[in-house]
Amino acid sequence: MFKPDKFIQEKTAELREKIKCNAIIGLSGGVDSTTSAVLVNKAIGKNLRCVLVDTGYMRKNEIEKNSAMLRKLGLNLLVVNAKDRFYAKLKGIIEPEQKRKLIGELFIRIFEEIAREENARYFIQGTIAPDWIESGGGLRDKIKSHHNVGGLPAEIGFEIVEPLRDLYKDEVRKVGQVLGLPPEIHQKQPFPGPGLAVRILGETSPENVKIVQEACAIVEEEIERASENKEITKPWQYFAVLLPVKAVGVQGDVRSYGNIITVRAVESIDGMSASYTKIPHHILERISVRITNTLKDNVSRVVFDITNKPPGTIEYE
Ligand code: XMP
Repeated sequence: MFKPDKFIQEKTAELREKIKCNAIIGLSGGVDSTTSAVLVNKAIGKNLRCVLVDTGYMRKNEIEKNSAMLRKLGLNLLVVNAKDRFYAKLKGIIEPEQKRKLIGELFIRIFEEIAREENARYFIQGTIAPDWIESGGGLRDKIKSHHNVGGLPAEIGFEIVEPLRDLYKDEVRKVGQVLGLPPEIHQKQPFPGPGLAVRILGETSPENVKIVQEACAIVEEEIERASENKEITKPWQYFAVLLPVKAVGVQGDVRSYGNIITVRAVESIDGMSASYTKIPHHILERISVRITNTLKDNVSRVVFDITNKPPGTIEYE
């Protein structure tokens, strides 16, 4: 049985022994990276600088919300606006693995720049077990290159430290809870490192980012409201994906021709397998009506994904 107290005690001692100089951590405000940051902060305190990169692929208002939350936790935070660099790098790219590799590489280049400025020899990442397992670690087949594993370039200007490397999501949540993170952080739904870039099938242009940001926000708000009203139990993960195909619709008596949004909600324990959440139709209808009203210039239809993992994966790319 996993014992979070024992893990924290042993890990902080190990980190304190290893890291005697400055270190930076790349964090997003999600469960894994925030738990890593608080753990490492406990071990090395003021030697840790926390870096939140705005890739342009975060959810609506997420950078503002997460940076306020991370500062409230007492972390020494630096927010880097790299939207234009990410958009330029991914311009015209549609192949999922290429997207993941380019994002992973640019992340590292940005962290190298910051590490030089901060005189840091160590770079800490919130990698957890499924990230490297699915990236083809050990003897396994590669499912997808998680941004913090398969996307890493061969030459890196610092030493990488991954304190949560051997843990699964449910174990990370327990560690976060024992470290005193509030439930809205340790129970937060997962969000992939490459962000909305893997929820836009096709080109990840700033225009497409806006569409999927809005659709994801609607899915989250409607599902969270339904869960607060006890209509459903909150799924393990829930979001929207923009499909690169168009369909004909009608608005009033005028023809429309817009993209398709798919709604995905799943139940899982560790993300390694999942079953789709049986969301009641009246809640799906609310989501569909809100998305097609709010995004009427861009979206003509909303569909719901009923694929389990396997054979699907949770994210689409
Ligand atoms: P898949 O899509 O592989 O996702 O079934 C399993 C879980 O992992 C999340 N995910 C990622 N998390 N970096 C991450 O930190 C990534 O590159 C990444 N790709 C997928 C996904 O949201 C799901 O919870």
